[in-house]
Amino acid sequence: MRALIEDFEQRCCRAPRWVAAAPGRINLLGEHTDYNGLPVLPVAIDRRVRIALAERDDATLRVANADPDHAAFSFEASNAIEPGPPGAWGNYVKAAVQGIVQAFERERWRGGDWLVSGDVPVAAGLSSSSALVVASALAFLAANDLHPSRIELAELLAVAERYVGTQGGGMDQAASLLGRAGHALRIDFFPLRTRAVRLPEDVALVACHSLVPAAKAAGARDAYNRRVSECREACRGFERVLDTPPLVNLGELVERFPDRRPAELVELLSTEADPDVVRRCRHVLTEAQRVYRGERLLADGDLEGFGREMFASHASCRDDYDVSGPELDELVQIAADAGALGARLTGAGFGGCTVNLLRRSRVEPFLDAVDRSFYRPRLGRGEDPGRRRFVLAASAGAECVELKD
Ligand code: GLA
Repeated sequence: MRALIEDFEQRCCRAPRWVAAAPGRINLLGEHTDYNGLPVLPVAIDRRVRIALAERDDATLRVANADPDHAAFSFEASNAIEPGPPGAWGNYVKAAVQGIVQAFERERWRGGDWLVSGDVPVAAGLSSSSALVVASALAFLAANDLHPSRIELAELLAVAERYVGTQGGGMDQAASLLGRAGHALRIDFFPLRTRAVRLPEDVALVACHSLVPAAKAAGARDAYNRRVSECREACRGFERVLDTPPLVNLGELVERFPDRRPAELVELLSTEADPDVVRRCRHVLTEAQRVYRGERLLADGDLEGFGREMFASHASCRDDYDVSGPELDELVQIAADAGALGARLTGAGFGGCTVNLLRRSRVEPFLDAVDRSFYRPRLGRGEDPGRRRFVLAASAGAECVELKD
């Protein structure tokens, strides 16, 4: 944080007044369930996006990035901010600011000088983008002396981030805002609720990058949005076969027919819907079950049982939801062979990372195995696999601190 503050002072010729920091997340179970109104089980991680800032009297935001690959930009806070080109990093900042301006009545808004930095790996499925949205929101709220509740803010930002063109659910923003050190977070949606689940002491979480970038803002965005609309199509199918009023999402289906098992519902849908839509639905309904069971197993300290749910989740993401790829599959297989309790892709998929659950004592041999089987054959000589796979700790949620002189 010291380096960020000094960098700010040099660039802006004044001291920053606040530093906002928001973690990325790694999801243990519950993939592509959030936008269906079904639960997830992520962990906020010890990697953060940080923003040092000082307010201005006008509504201009001048935003620089400590990483020279990310160009500086400026814009006016308003309820209709012109986005940059698709994929531009500044769109995540603008998404947060526009979302807040739209949500709160104010005559005047205070902009600021901002400097962004961070260590959440990008295009890794660890939600660096939502961490930037959350940190931006906390920075802008601080400058404008606004203090919404975390739940209110998480709900607001889940919608605000759609500004970038992804029809995302609310997992990433909620995990970043409401995470708790040493705990996973069971999150339910519409309305948003969270429950912390303690992680056993002797457990370690390792992320392994597949070396395939998971860039939500680029090509994967369309594939992601297609899954969202396939799930809506599944709802239309259920309305017909069950002769039931319009469904908002598959979560509402589960609520309305609590006694019907997923297999039975999927069977019914198959008489009415496209086979791809049926497979998507099977993933979503069975994945929700894995979250319910997984939360109990974790709370009981049954790590073997929890790990089996993770492997099953990966198979379902691969075979029914079609969001895996050969590299992610290979990493999961290597993890199974190396004695991981569980492993699966994490985040939207289409590249990015796997999440691996291990006993602490198994971490070193596990890292040796993935380096030998996956990274060494792929990385150039002199490239350090240590930058592609890392041990993560479950950390607290986002915060914004005011700096004292
Ligand atoms: C992305 C989205 C989340 C969630 C996951 C898949 O990370 O931002 O809302 O849908 O994909 O589980």
